Amino acid sequence: GKKGFIFDLDGVIVDTAGFHYLAWRNLAHELGFEFTEKQNERFKGVSRVRSLEILLEIGDVKATQEQKEGWLVSKNEEYLSYISKMTSDDILPGVLKVLDYLQEKQIPMALGSASKNAQPILKRVGLFDRFDSIVDGNHVTKAKPDPEVFTIGADALGVAYTDAVVFEDSIAGIQAANRVDMVSIGIGDAQVLHEADHNFKDFTEIDTAFLDQLINA
Ligand code: BG6
Ligand code: MG
Repeated sequence: GKKGFIFDLDGVIVDTAGFHYLAWRNLAHELGFEFTEKQNERFKGVSRVRSLEILLEIGDVKATQEQKEGWLVSKNEEYLSYISKMTSDDILPGVLKVLDYLQEKQIPMALGSASKNAQPILKRVGLFDRFDSIVDGNHVTKAKPDPEVFTIGADALGVAYTDAVVFEDSIAGIQAANRVDMVSIGIGDAQVLHEADHNFKDFTEIDTAFLDQLINA
């Protein structure tokens, strides 16, 4: 059937994973513990609330609901200050070429992100109008590895789940796509993302022959 392509945002289209990491690390320091980049792998694709829970587990910090809500707000304010400085230069290498090619081939495209900040980020980097559908953290109740964010996207594009192709940099996102038999494409470390159907270090490694193969499969 007709294929549709779904893109995660953070770590796939833009390099925001580092901003999330900085903001969480600063909170960890404030609470008196270290938070390493390796530990940050567990945070990719995970919702904001779940991220805080994992951070507090790592630091063995007990907190009241009120404290947690305050930290979620301050972490997001710091994150927003980082993304407010983003421009189209922050689009990851090779992404525009792939989006252009798929658009030329009239392939429907959706965004599938856990982030509640997805729309302002897309606007800042000038990609808001490039997607037929945007599904983000404001539209879902179940976080990755639940496939909800991708199934809503495929439904909006009018493609069967098995005809949907998902680009993801997180383990949770690859698992979400695999759960409903979408074609999962890992962007990043192939060892971390070994459950993906295909792996690439970044979009510069993806050529039109590979895209044609997916489109015509
Ligand atoms: C995901 C990121 O895309 O969005 C996670 O990979 C992040 O690290 C999640 O926690 C939620 O983002 P936000 O912007 O709503 O805090
Ligand atoms: Mg991501």
